[in-house]
Amino acid sequence: MFHFSRASRRTRPDLAIDLGTANTRVIRRAEGVVFEEPTLCCYVDDGGTPRFQSAGSKVAGMVDRVPAGLQIRHPLARGVLQDIDAASAMLDYALTSVSGKKGLRRPSALIGIPADATKAEAGTLHSAARDAGLGKVELVREPFLAALGADLSLGDARASMVIECGAGTTEIAVYSLNGLCLSRSVRQGGLALDAALAEFLHTRHHFLVGSQTAERLKRDLARSFASSDAQTATISVKGRDMHRARPGTIYLSASDFLPVFEKHVLPLVEAARAVLHDISPDLAADLFASDIVMTGGSACTGLFARKLAQESGVGVRLAKEESRCVSRGLAQLLDG
Ligand SMILES: Nc1ncnc2c1ncn2[C@@H]1O[C@H](COP(=O)(O)OP(=O)(O)OP(=O)(O)O)[C@@H](O)[C@H]1O
Ligand SMILES: [Mg+2]
Repeated sequence: MFHFSRASRRTRPDLAIDLGTANTRVIRRAEGVVFEEPTLCCYVDDGGTPRFQSAGSKVAGMVDRVPAGLQIRHPLARGVLQDIDAASAMLDYALTSVSGKKGLRRPSALIGIPADATKAEAGTLHSAARDAGLGKVELVREPFLAALGADLSLGDARASMVIECGAGTTEIAVYSLNGLCLSRSVRQGGLALDAALAEFLHTRHHFLVGSQTAERLKRDLARSFASSDAQTATISVKGRDMHRARPGTIYLSASDFLPVFEKHVLPLVEAARAVLHDISPDLAADLFASDIVMTGGSACTGLFARKLAQESGVGVRLAKEESRCVSRGLAQLLDG
């Protein structure tokens, strides 16, 4: 695992990779993000050993639509590898896209990993990276990368708190004097909210939607809640009406979905409050004088930030280009 104190002494790796549950990004020295595609693979499954067919953006439109004989695989779940073959295929696809077949031989890389990943989970990531053709790999904790990318003053003797909100995990960390004071992770992110919205439509309205529709619905609702027209806004959703057993469109008020969002953010707010409760009084006082910074794609849902600010009394703000913070942190380490 990569540590703060060794940052200046290490030799710089060739690449950095943010292998996320929903999105994979590759960063090259002095160039920034050179690859950004969904973390998805498609395999041909005709009865024998499944064969890799494609990955990334090409596969995104195929989710929930593949015919028999093809299978979509998600290399990660809740921030960590769940399918080592698919993860190494995804990494191989990303490396080939970036460097072509004649790219660097066994490039060295920094790879982000959740702060609470176990040794076994880190070991699996190392194996997938090796299988994909990477050379020396150093793992870096994601909340640290997010804090770096959000330009927090980590070297100050004042506390900084970052909450990295991804698709599979939400990670809360407090830093001071270039060191981690406390962290807590909840293995739940934006994908869990998509699933909760689909479940709500199914159980309350007997209406079935696929994962991509649920994700679009979440983004529409987040926009609506942010513009405070949720009481009056009507949201239309396309899917299968189970009452009539046919495709259809359902029209609901955006505010009908608010309890689903509130239930989803509850454990996240609780985890952040637990961190605020457990840090030393002086660090807590620092945080009251500055804002908690949210990063990651799921920070866009906004409700988590608002609830946390209400319940903790501490200011909460979104980082600039929040979904790119981990990548920016990786770029800073690469560029030195
Ligand atoms: N405007 C938006 N409103 C709501 N959610 C959004 C928005 N934009 C992105 N998201 C969500 O952000 C998540 C993707 O964020 P990100 O790329 O940070 O995750 P990841 O790095 O792949 O996941 P993890 O770090 O948890 O493994 C998805 O769940 C996506 O639906
Ligand atoms: Mg991430």
